[in-house]
Amino acid sequence: MEISQVQGWKIPGKTTYRGVNYHFQIIPDLDIDIANKWAVAPTDVLIATYPKSGTTWMGSLVHEILHDTTSRPHFQPFVEMNIGNRPCASSMSFNGFAHPRVFKTHLGYDFFEDKIQKECLKTIVVMRNPKDVLVSYYHMHKMKHLNSFPGSFHDFFDLFKHKELIFGDPFDSCAKWWQQRSSRNLMIVKYEDIIMDCTDVVRKIANFLGVPLTEKRISEIVQRGSFGAMKEAYTSFSGAIFSKAFFRKGVIGDWMNYFNDEEVEYINNMSKMYFDPIGLSFVDRP
Ligand code: A3P
Repeated sequence: MEISQVQGWKIPGKTTYRGVNYHFQIIPDLDIDIANKWAVAPTDVLIATYPKSGTTWMGSLVHEILHDTTSRPHFQPFVEMNIGNRPCASSMSFNGFAHPRVFKTHLGYDFFEDKIQKECLKTIVVMRNPKDVLVSYYHMHKMKHLNSFPGSFHDFFDLFKHKELIFGDPFDSCAKWWQQRSSRNLMIVKYEDIIMDCTDVVRKIANFLGVPLTEKRISEIVQRGSFGAMKEAYTSFSGAIFSKAFFRKGVIGDWMNYFNDEEVEYINNMSKMYFDPIGLSFVDRP
């Protein structure tokens, strides 16, 4: 399905680069700016995700691991929104953030290969079962800033099938990052593992980042990272950019309420094709 066939819906600001759709201007400056303007500091951390995989959650956990703070909300800038000629880049210089800096991105591995492999940029990739990602992404598209997608989940699934989604295909994105899993500066975390044992994940991240944490601090970070605590902290301050709709459910397996049989078969085949050969799998149910 063409995007324009979904009742006139359009990706806001759409550009396509190397076959992937973006909702902002990406060429020609973004690759170049990431390469030239970001001088990676030894303490910089990048959180890389396909959208709706737990980016905000991980951003908050990492921020609290690195900064001994109890004040909230705190935000971690997206590389793609704060570099080059982005609309908001003028007000937020890429270099204007306090160290240790935590950046987020939905861009793929290719954009950061040199930063990770040559400049030793510590990178934490969060991956989530594409089934739940699609449901969460569908709901995000219902929000105003993505032009209130007018179609059903099944229409949205068609866009996924035709590789029309913003930031491309979740299978492509995960597979590319996963293939780098043995890189020294890369750590991959699954959303489902954070749900199932957040304490263990926080411990592993602190270890990866070389930050010693007391057990008391770990349990504080975990408690503050709970769905309810984050929803409360991020939606209750004035001028919230995170609405209650953003903290939607935060569970494993909501896809079962949306997928029809054909869609289940299609996506299971995608998993067989993309993930089975490289040994990547996700739990489907809580
Ligand atoms: P749902 O729409 O399935 O609820 P991102 O930050 O990458 O956009 O991901 C958003 C998804 O992460 C949403 O999923 C949101 O509810 C979930 N999420 C955010 N904070 C969470 C938390 N503390 N615990 C569990 N899920 C969380």
